[in-house]
Amino acid sequence: MCGIIGYVGCEPQSNQVLLDGLKALEYRGYDSAGMAIVVNRDVRVIKTRGKVANLEKKIEDLHLPSSVLGIAHTRWATHGIPNQSNAHPHQHGMVTLVHNGIIENYGELKELLTKQGYVFESETDTEIAAAYLDYVYKKSFDKKQALQEANKAFRGSFAFGIIFADEQDTLYAMRRNSPLIVAVGEHERYIASDVPAILKYTKDYILLDQDEIAVLKKDEVKIYTLDLVERDYEVKTATMDASAIAKDGYEHFMLKEIHEEPRVVKDTMHAYVQDDIDQLVASLPDLRKYQQIHIVSCGSAMYAGMIAKSLIEQAARIRVDVEIASEYRYKHPIYDVPTLVLIVSQSGETADSLAALLLAKSQGVDTMAIVNVIGSSIAREAKYVAYTHAGVEIAVATTKAYCTQVALLSLMALNLAYVHGHVDKKQANAIIQEVQQLPEMLEHMIEDVQYVQAAKIISRHNNVFFLGRGLDYALCMEASLKLKEISYIHSEAYAAGELKHGTISLIEKGTPVIAICTEESLYEKTISNIKEVKARGANVILVVREDFNVGDDYYDYKISVPKVNRLIQGIVSVVPLQLLSYQVANLRGCEIDQPRNLAKSVTVE
Ligand code: F6R
Repeated sequence: MCGIIGYVGCEPQSNQVLLDGLKALEYRGYDSAGMAIVVNRDVRVIKTRGKVANLEKKIEDLHLPSSVLGIAHTRWATHGIPNQSNAHPHQHGMVTLVHNGIIENYGELKELLTKQGYVFESETDTEIAAAYLDYVYKKSFDKKQALQEANKAFRGSFAFGIIFADEQDTLYAMRRNSPLIVAVGEHERYIASDVPAILKYTKDYILLDQDEIAVLKKDEVKIYTLDLVERDYEVKTATMDASAIAKDGYEHFMLKEIHEEPRVVKDTMHAYVQDDIDQLVASLPDLRKYQQIHIVSCGSAMYAGMIAKSLIEQAARIRVDVEIASEYRYKHPIYDVPTLVLIVSQSGETADSLAALLLAKSQGVDTMAIVNVIGSSIAREAKYVAYTHAGVEIAVATTKAYCTQVALLSLMALNLAYVHGHVDKKQANAIIQEVQQLPEMLEHMIEDVQYVQAAKIISRHNNVFFLGRGLDYALCMEASLKLKEISYIHSEAYAAGELKHGTISLIEKGTPVIAICTEESLYEKTISNIKEVKARGANVILVVREDFNVGDDYYDYKISVPKVNRLIQGIVSVVPLQLLSYQVANLRGCEIDQPRNLAKSVTVE
């Protein structure tokens, strides 16, 4: 959700560094882009509508020389349509800045500034922030003090990269609730929304905490708390390298990331257990005392939570509620028994998930995070953290990170079942043996091309339904989201038994219905529901466990999935569904990695 990069160095390399950074951050937003650099002692702002490539072209056409200081931004619009004047950077007086987040009280600040004679060109909250910082700076001409004052005046979330016109060798930054790192080169320093943006230049970075101010010169970084007290910091080294953000010959990042699933699922599982349940018990926090778990997340991460609910409730007999984070944070949750609030998040920065976690913390409730990004805000705030090991995920639609979330949640279900005495050691170890086959199974599923024909059918329609029960219903939710977000086909996921309570009226001759049927105990029920839609003319694509003997009059096209332990059935079965969505979107010529209106890492509410 908006990407920020900033550079201060001894060589005039701003343009290349900033464009490289923006390209690596484009997954966060891609409706407009801009940069500010110092040219002939002037802070020059260049902006364009559309993708970073447009900005690159404009800079080339203008023959803009590089500078030793610059900031840049790729935008996902919140306030104001995607156009050039709403694009960042925004400039007022002495201040030029880029921003990720939302200044919630920008209306009242705008009124105050208008009275002071400020005139605004854009519809953005960010322009107000630039003007406000200029206004307070001009009171004292003390930059840190001005940043402190602005911080206290701004409500909402922000990560800022700032250039002051009267200090052309220094980059300023400040953050609250939006991610920002400071990176350290030899004679260069950087700021970025995320580590991949600077990997081409350095792997060393510093995490900026809530409400902190960073002052960067080419050879030094100073970090101040909001009281303007300088603090020590640790320089961390990223473990990934620049190849993690390359397509490696794949047409799209999404396809590359699906192909990485066997490896990242294996890495995630092996980080917790190799062959013995005691390893798992030792590597996960002891959750025995909790009588209920609230899994609170957004989008696919929440659908991973739905799978976990089914697994944990069935295997460990612990009540699990799955909640949409944006609802949960405002609903006064009930914690009348010992409760664990479990946040699942790839980015670890999703604003609503973070807010839900902070709400639980404020009520004295224990929290746990299942997160992919080390050191992310959610990871830092939670009492317990368990990391997935999916690596960097660039495609906006999650695939491999979702699989690692489900894999880790499945291990958690097994752990809970064991510590609560629902499986003994021998049974648990046998299950661990079984789930070790998962990476191999995933490889097999990725090679399998059964989905290709089904994709041709679906790509010709604008309305699709997914049906399933139990675990398969949770899978339907994820598969349906995947299809609609990248192919723009309207799709609804329904619990198979619920369809006839209204929605079946939408089924007409030829409507594609993708029915998922892998739950042994529910198999006959789902099959009856399939018959009901078939009788109304639906074109049924059946995703079915290979050992279920379903007559060919029940479907028009069949995709078989292998029978595996229920703990991992969801991960195995999701692969053809991910590939199906990918293929449909490809056939329809969609922008698969960067679907319209979307962005990865939703850091605003
Ligand atoms: C869908 C997708 C989103 C994310 C959701 C949560 O393909 O990627 O629905 O799952 O925005 O994001 P994280 O996991 O970063 O909290």
